[in-house]
Amino acid sequence: MALAASKVEPGTVRKGLPTYSRADLQKHKKKEERVWVSYNNGVYDVTDYVTQHPGGSKILLAAGGDIGPYWDMYGAHKQGEIYEVLEGLRVGNIIEPPEKRTVDKNDPYAKDPKRHPALIPSSERPFNAEPPVSLLLQDFITPTDLFFVRNHLPVPTIKPDNYRLNISVHGKEKALSLYTLHKLEQKSVVTTIQCAGNRRSDMVKVKPVKGLNWGFAAISTAEWSGPTLKDVLKQCGVNLDTTEYQHIQFEGCDTGPDGTTYGASIPIELARILRNDIIVATKMNGEDIPRDHGYPVRIIIPGVVGARQVKWLDKIELSNEESSSHWQQRDYKGFNSSVDWHNVDFSKSTAIQLLPVQSAICEPEDGETLPDDEEVTVRGYAWSGGGRGIYRVDVSADGGKTWVTAELQHPPSQTPYTSWAWTFWEAQVALPKGHGGKTELVCKACDSQYNVQPDNVESIWNLRGCLSSAWHRVNVSVPK
Ligand code: MTE
Repeated sequence: MALAASKVEPGTVRKGLPTYSRADLQKHKKKEERVWVSYNNGVYDVTDYVTQHPGGSKILLAAGGDIGPYWDMYGAHKQGEIYEVLEGLRVGNIIEPPEKRTVDKNDPYAKDPKRHPALIPSSERPFNAEPPVSLLLQDFITPTDLFFVRNHLPVPTIKPDNYRLNISVHGKEKALSLYTLHKLEQKSVVTTIQCAGNRRSDMVKVKPVKGLNWGFAAISTAEWSGPTLKDVLKQCGVNLDTTEYQHIQFEGCDTGPDGTTYGASIPIELARILRNDIIVATKMNGEDIPRDHGYPVRIIIPGVVGARQVKWLDKIELSNEESSSHWQQRDYKGFNSSVDWHNVDFSKSTAIQLLPVQSAICEPEDGETLPDDEEVTVRGYAWSGGGRGIYRVDVSADGGKTWVTAELQHPPSQTPYTSWAWTFWEAQVALPKGHGGKTELVCKACDSQYNVQPDNVESIWNLRGCLSSAWHRVNVSVPK
C-alpha cells in the first residue's frame, strides 16, 4: 500500500486498522513471529524489509519497540521516501498513553535520566551500559545517546545557576561559576574514553572476576569542549608547569548513601605532558554534557583510563597525595594472574593511568553465519592510551596462523603521538579452505610505540578483570 510522498504522515492513527498495545508489540521481536516496530501511533511489520535490504538487520535493534529514538539519532531517515516505505509496511495502530514513571522518594536512583533503548545495560542501579556493537562503527563520533555509561553512584541533579567548581590550593578555595568557565578561552578535543573493564567478559571465560560483565563496547568517542585545566588553574594563581604539588585530585558531586563521593587523581607529571589537552569540559559534541556523562562539568584527560575522567566535577585539589578515594586506592589497579582476593594488597600496585593498545572486531559478530564467499570483510576499532596512534592492525581468518594488514581510517587532524581518538579499520581476508564450516577471526593492533596486544587472555587475567586487551577473537560459521 504505497502512499504518495507528499501525503505521508508517518505514525498518525489510520482508520480501519487493528489496534495494538505495547505489550502486543513486544511479542514480535523475532523473525519467526514476524518483526514489528512502532513509530508514533503506527505499527509496522518490517520482517521482509530486514532480510531484503542491506543494513536492514539494524532495524532488529528496535524489534518489538519504538524506532523513533533511533531515527532521532540517525536523522537521515526522516524524509518522505523513507516515510513512504514505512507506511507501506503498516499493519496497525498503537493506542496507549505514554508510560508514567512512578517516583519512589526513597530510591536514590529515582532521578536518574531516561536512557536510549539501544544501550545494553550491564547494571541498572547504578546504571552502566554499552552501545550495540553493530552501531559502533556507524560514526567516528559516537552519537551522544549511545556513548557508553559507567556510573558508580546515582546521577546527581545539579542546577546550573548553583553550580560552582571549587579549586583548592594551599588550603584556600576558589569557586568558579559556569559563567566564568564559559568566559575563558574554549578548546575542543576529540577523544576516545575507554573503561578499564572493557572486554572483561573475555576474562570471565578464564576464571570469575569481580566487576561488571562488559562486552567490547565500553569505549566511545566524543568531542569535548571547555577551558583547559591549565587555564582554569591559572585563574587561581597556579602555574601547572612550576607548581611543586605532585598530584591533581578530582572529586565528583555524586554521593552514595554512606556519604562516599567518587574521586580520582592524576600525577602532576602526566598533567604537564597533556597540558594543552586536558579540558574542564562543559560541552559534549557541541551541546551541554548530558546528565549521565557529567552535567554540567567533567574533566577530560585524553589517553587516560575512563576512571580518572571525573564527571559532575565538584572540586579540583592540588596535593602531594593521590586521591584517597576507593576508586583510586582499592580499584582500577593491575595484578598478575596469581593474585586472588585472599592475598591481594592494593597498596602494592600502581593506579592505572595510560591504557594499553586495544582492538576489537565489530563485523562480523560472534556466532554469525557468513555468506558462502571466498573472502570475508572484517571491520573494527583500534585505540591506544597516551595519544599513541595506531600503526597497524592485523587480521586473521584462521585463528592467528596467517595475517593480512587492514586499511586504517585514522582520526582527522591527530598525529601519531597525539591520537586521542580511535582508529577504524577494515580488511578483506580469504577464508581458509576445508575449515569444516567454522573458523575463528582474530585481530591485533600495533601502536605508534610498536606496543602489541598479548595473544591470550589467560596470561593477563586479573581478579578485577581490568585491562583485557588480548587478541580479539570472533567465531563464525561458513556454509559448507
Ligand atoms: N565520575 C564520577 N563522578 N562518577 C563515576 O562513577 N565513573 C568513571 C568516570 N568518571 C565515574 C566518573 C569511570 S569508571 C568511567 S569508565 C568514565 O567515567 C565513564 O564515562 P561515561 O559514563 O561518560 O562513559
